[in-house]
Amino acid sequence: MTDQPIKKSIVFSGIQPTGNLTLGNYLGAIKNWVQHQEAFENLFCVVDLHAITLRQNPAELRKRSLEVAAIYLASGINPKESAIFLQSHVPEHTQLSWILTCNSYMGELSRMTQYKTKSQNKEGEAIEAGLFTYPILMAADILLYQTEFVPVGQDQVQHVELTRDLALRFNNAYSPTFTIPKALLPKAGAKIMDLSDPMKKMSKSSDNPNSFIRIMDPPEDIKRKISRSVTDSLGVVAYSPEQPGIMNLLDIMAAISNRAPEELAKEYQHCGYKAFKEACAQTIIDELAPVQQRVNTLLTKERGELEEILAKGAQKAHFMAQKTLRKVYKKVGLIPPLG
Ligand code: TYM
Repeated sequence: MTDQPIKKSIVFSGIQPTGNLTLGNYLGAIKNWVQHQEAFENLFCVVDLHAITLRQNPAELRKRSLEVAAIYLASGINPKESAIFLQSHVPEHTQLSWILTCNSYMGELSRMTQYKTKSQNKEGEAIEAGLFTYPILMAADILLYQTEFVPVGQDQVQHVELTRDLALRFNNAYSPTFTIPKALLPKAGAKIMDLSDPMKKMSKSSDNPNSFIRIMDPPEDIKRKISRSVTDSLGVVAYSPEQPGIMNLLDIMAAISNRAPEELAKEYQHCGYKAFKEACAQTIIDELAPVQQRVNTLLTKERGELEEILAKGAQKAHFMAQKTLRKVYKKVGLIPPLG
């Protein structure tokens, strides 16, 4: 018997610093990261290079990148357990991305739902090539760290599947190089729906501000948005696909309180939608208030510490990423740089 510490599996995930992060990002991704944090070795990235797939206002992008990192920390990501960093600070992401691009097919990229939706919205306009190749950069993010688990919401599962295909293809062509990653979905909250149209996913890029709750929304906005959320005329709180609006609110409450949505439905069954919505809004407010306070401190008084955490995170990520990239260079016939 040796006393060697058991190596923890690696977790990688990221969020784009575009728009305002929503309750969907919080419940579908961040809260799940925090819950599994101690069991894994974690890398949580602010994927700023993904953000520039669509043109951003530069000052706004810089501000949002720091805000997203602050949200990770404020939500409970512990920088001692997890590396938090900006994607653009670790150049291996783009380097591996190019090599994977040369091993990807146009057909598989054009089948990505996100690409199809976003390019359909741009019919008749020029479509940026980055929109098409974007899942390859995501695959590079994941594969660089020999990641085993990728905690994401439902909408990113297809991209993780593509990552698996690319990794398997590379391993078969050159010899085992990459760990084959798996998506890790939260028990509740994998798909938080739009408050105005509960058949659509809640999205930070929606034009209708009443359709989503921002992590940084003040309590009055949360109350207003939940009270106006679209439900139905049945009048009984039930966890049923016939009541997608109510189902969504129950999913939100379940994800926050770690309870089963069916059990919550029983509890609120006869209380009427108004009281149910008030309880739902209060659950969200109580969850987000401490996060908001901490974000504000990190972005003002503790900004120096925040930048320091990002620098340390990037250093650790760079160290791990270099190892994989050198292996990949050798396998495809490139000469790794000395040192
Ligand atoms: P992004 O920035 O769109 O979303 C970040 C995370 O939030 C989840 N999410 C949701 N979960 C539940 N309900 C919703 N309504 C909802 N909306 C968003 C997403 O599933 C995601 O987990 N391509 C990725 C970012 C990325 C990444 C990666 C993720 C780049 N590289 C590597 C994992 C690993 C994206 O655009 O996520």
